[in-house]
Amino acid sequence: MLVSPSIISADMGNLKDQVARCDSAGSYSLHLDVMDGHFVPNLTIGFDFIRAIRKNTGMKLETHLMIDRPDRYYRRFMESGSDTLLIHVESPIVTGELLKTIQGEGGKYGVVVNPETPVERSFPFLENAEILLVMSVHPGFSGQKFIQESLGKLVEARKYIKDHGLKTLLEIDGGINDVTGKMAADAGADILVSGSYIFSGVIEEKIALLKSL
Ligand code: DX5
Ligand code: ZN
Repeated sequence: MLVSPSIISADMGNLKDQVARCDSAGSYSLHLDVMDGHFVPNLTIGFDFIRAIRKNTGMKLETHLMIDRPDRYYRRFMESGSDTLLIHVESPIVTGELLKTIQGEGGKYGVVVNPETPVERSFPFLENAEILLVMSVHPGFSGQKFIQESLGKLVEARKYIKDHGLKTLLEIDGGINDVTGKMAADAGADILVSGSYIFSGVIEEKIALLKSL
């Protein structure tokens, strides 16, 4: 399995070291959770934080935009060093237009669906999407319980991706540990995002375990 540690669960006092450990443990990418206090009831990191991470690592950075207006800020997130922008289909924007704009400006993107959103809503946007991210918690906070119904979405999305010969990677985010990660792997996920599980223990061991699922 590919693993993407969610950095907001890291020990922020030792951020540089924590990122380096995620890298040397063989993470696929680093997952950066941006929240604006509107789209979700929480505030986290922004441009400067991402720029600081970019300065200190060559890792692939995926920026999960849990913000109301990604159309207003996408460019600054690209300029801060994000490799891939993860855009929610629930954002109050014209999704297809924004994705086209990001692509036109040389950026890569993924499409995200919340637990209450049918996964089919992402399908019209998958052709050039690097990632389809299925949320397995209601976004806003780390450390929540995995929502089992998201497994069915993975199965459905995997079938769609296969049937249409797409290269889109299927990712899952929220409540992932050794048990739920295994279920997600069996249901067809390619990438496991994990925050509290990885950073509550020995980072290298947790990442190695998730990779082996
Ligand atoms: C939830 C975020 C997740 C979260 C993952 O709003 O998008 O990326 O931080 O944390 P865990 O793995 O603890 O659920
Ligand atoms: Zn996330």
